[in-house]
Amino acid sequence: MQLKGKRIIVTGSARGMGAATLRAYVREGAHVIGMDVTDDTGAEVSSEATKSGPGKAGYMHVDVSDKTSVESVFATAVAAMGGLDVLAHPAAIQRGSDAGDVTVEDWDLMFAVNVRGTMLTNQVAARYMKDSGGGSILNFGSISGQRPEPGAAAYSAAKGAVHSWTRTAAGTWGKDNIRVNAILPAMATPMYEEAMATMTEDDKTASYWQNHQSIAMGQKYGDPDEDLGPVMVFLAGDGSRFITGQMIPVDGGQTNVK
Ligand SMILES: NC(=O)c1ccc[n+]([C@@H]2O[C@H](COP(=O)([O-])OP(=O)(O)OC[C@H]3O[C@@H](n4cnc5c(N)ncnc54)[C@H](O)[C@@H]3O)[C@@H](O)[C@H]2O)c1
Repeated sequence: MQLKGKRIIVTGSARGMGAATLRAYVREGAHVIGMDVTDDTGAEVSSEATKSGPGKAGYMHVDVSDKTSVESVFATAVAAMGGLDVLAHPAAIQRGSDAGDVTVEDWDLMFAVNVRGTMLTNQVAARYMKDSGGGSILNFGSISGQRPEPGAAAYSAAKGAVHSWTRTAAGTWGKDNIRVNAILPAMATPMYEEAMATMTEDDKTASYWQNHQSIAMGQKYGDPDEDLGPVMVFLAGDGSRFITGQMIPVDGGQTNVK
C-alpha cells in the first residue's frame, strides 16, 4: 500500500504501459482515474483493476491533444478524487516517416498528440497539484528522441521536444514542490508489436542491431507490468521526492550499454 491516499491520473490507460501503470497504482492502494481515446478497453482496464483492489480506478474519455477536452476532463477527475497528486502520461502515437519526405500532416499529428498533449496535460495537472501542496508528473520520452531514427523522423523530433519540455517544466514548478521526469522505456506493448508487424525481414534484422542487441537484460523488450510498474510506483511515491528533471531509461540497458 505504498500509494494509499494518492490521487492519480493515468493517460493512455486503455493498453500498453498506461494500463500496466494503472494496475500497479491500484495494487498499491491509490485512487486512479484512467483516461484514453479508446473507451471500451479503457473502461474495462479500470474495472478489472478495481475488482482486484485494494485501490480503485475510474475511467474518463480524453483527447490529450485537445485543450478543451483536457481542461474539462481533468476538472471532473480532480473533483471526483478531491485533488491531484500524480500524473502519469504515457498517451502517445507512433507513425513511421522518412526525413526526406515526412509530410506536414504526419509532422503536425505527431506534435499535436505527443508534444502539445504533454504540455496541456502537464500544465493543467500542475495547477491542481499546486493546490495539493505538490506532486509528481511522469512523461514518456524515448531513446528515439536522443539518437537518429531514420524510420520515424517526426516521432523522433517530437520525443526530443518532450525531453526539453520535461527539463523546463521541472525547473519552473520545483518551487511548487512539483517534480517532472520522463521515462524512456523499452517495453513489449501493442505500440511495439504494431511497429514490428509492419517491418520486412531486412527491417527486423536492422531493428535487432539498432534496438534489441544493446538490451543487456536478455536482448528483448521488457514486460510493462513486471518491469515498468514497480518503477512507476517508486516515482509516484514520496521516496523519489528529490528526483526531478531526469530522463530515466527503463530499458534493460538499451540506451547506455553500447
Ligand atoms: N513501447 C516502447 O518500447 C516505447 C519505447 C519508447 C517510448 N515509448 C513511449 O511510451 C509511451 C507508452 O507507449 P505504449 O507502447 O504503451 O503505447 P500504446 O500505443 O500501446 O498505448 C498508447 C495509448 O495512448 C492512447 N492514445 C493515443 N492517442 C491519444 C490521445 N490523443 N488522447 C488520449 N489517449 C491517446 C492510445 O489509445 C493507447 O491506449 C508512449 O509515449 C510511447 O511513445 C514506448
